[in-house]
Amino acid sequence: MRVALGCDHAGFALKALIRACLEESGHEVLDQGTFCEESCDYPDFAERVARLVSCGEAERGIAICGTGIGMAMAANKLPGVRAAACNDIYTARFSRLHNDANLLTLGARVVGPGVAEEIVRTWMGTPFEGGRHARRLERLAEIEGRYGGRRP
Ligand code: RB5
Repeated sequence: MRVALGCDHAGFALKALIRACLEESGHEVLDQGTFCEESCDYPDFAERVARLVSCGEAERGIAICGTGIGMAMAANKLPGVRAAACNDIYTARFSRLHNDANLLTLGARVVGPGVAEEIVRTWMGTPFEGGRHARRLERLAEIEGRYGGRRP
């Protein structure tokens, strides 16, 4: 799969591990930075990753910050992006089965490298269940369409 990957300064070290883990599994990684530990702003890198998912250039995205929260908030602003902050394996699994999450965010200050790799493997390898969950995703898309970034 083609995977867009990004981080802020807090996620920099973990991004290298996740990149290696994805490549070992045969995925193509589109690394969107950041490329150093200098302090930076997570929305800039969330946007880069989410843009590639939103326009279809990447099938999946992974974005890493301190908690995973800021990256998820920013990524979910882009149309068609379903970003899930998953710092445990159960949530990662169900974000795929029930929510068809196409962008995973991780908190490098929350999970250690071993758990983070396991989360990524689980998330990459779990299919969407479809059925009643597909109907709910249609509702999500309808809500996005109704507001289109505007306040009611
Ligand atoms: C950076 O200090 C931190 O706020 C950021 O990595 C992230 O956790 C935000 O959600």
